[in-house]
Amino acid sequence: MNILNIFKLSILYKNTISCGTVLVVFCTLSLLAPQVVLSHVGATGVVKHRMDLMDKLKKEMKSLSSMYKGDKQYDPHLVRHASDIINSHSGNTITKLFPEGSLSEPSEAKANIWQQWDYFVELAEQQHSISHALFSAANNAPEDPSLKTSNMMGVTTNMMSGNLLKDSIDNKVDLATLPSNQVFKLLIDNCSSCHTRFRVAD
Ligand code: HEC
Repeated sequence: MNILNIFKLSILYKNTISCGTVLVVFCTLSLLAPQVVLSHVGATGVVKHRMDLMDKLKKEMKSLSSMYKGDKQYDPHLVRHASDIINSHSGNTITKLFPEGSLSEPSEAKANIWQQWDYFVELAEQQHSISHALFSAANNAPEDPSLKTSNMMGVTTNMMSGNLLKDSIDNKVDLATLPSNQVFKLLIDNCSSCHTRFRVAD
């Protein structure tokens, strides 16, 4: 192999590296680009409005979850701030963005929303009351996760939390008196209940 060939080869090699690098940078950038932008492409009118609202909810839930997971220092002030935003994007503020039959692309809403409208409204309203309770529970330090597995009677907290919402509706439990992470769990469950029933699965 003469020196010219080595030279050519090294140019080729360098080009490969730089092409590769450009590709990696490009891919990384597109991965970092918020997915919402993609899912919102083509969304207009009421569908876009409700997607924007849902994204706001997601952002606040992320901020809350980073505190409950311990990635961020627990801050009651931040909990109240997030709860307040979620609270003002609940109930009627959600349901009015779902006029009957509004399923235009790229909406992921399901048509059963309008067949089970009362239940849809109920879930939107529950978000109102749970976020209100979370606001009030912000000063109740989250329960130590190591204590979570069982209580004195050996009943797991998870099993209990399934009934918490019902008990609060029946006025047997005041959610605002619970450790705030339990209230947060109810809020997550409520988002999921609505999505499971009324949003097309990804
Ligand atoms: C009353 C029902 C209901 C509740 C409660 C609810 N959602 Fe949704 N959500 C929907 C429906 C329906 C869609 C699909 C809307 C569409 O694509 O037209 C949706 C879509 C979304 C999306 C996707 C938005 C997009 O850009 O396409 C996110 C994120 C989301 N919800 C987050 C949340 C979070 C977080 C909560 C809880 C704090 C929550 N939602 C509570 C019904 C609900």
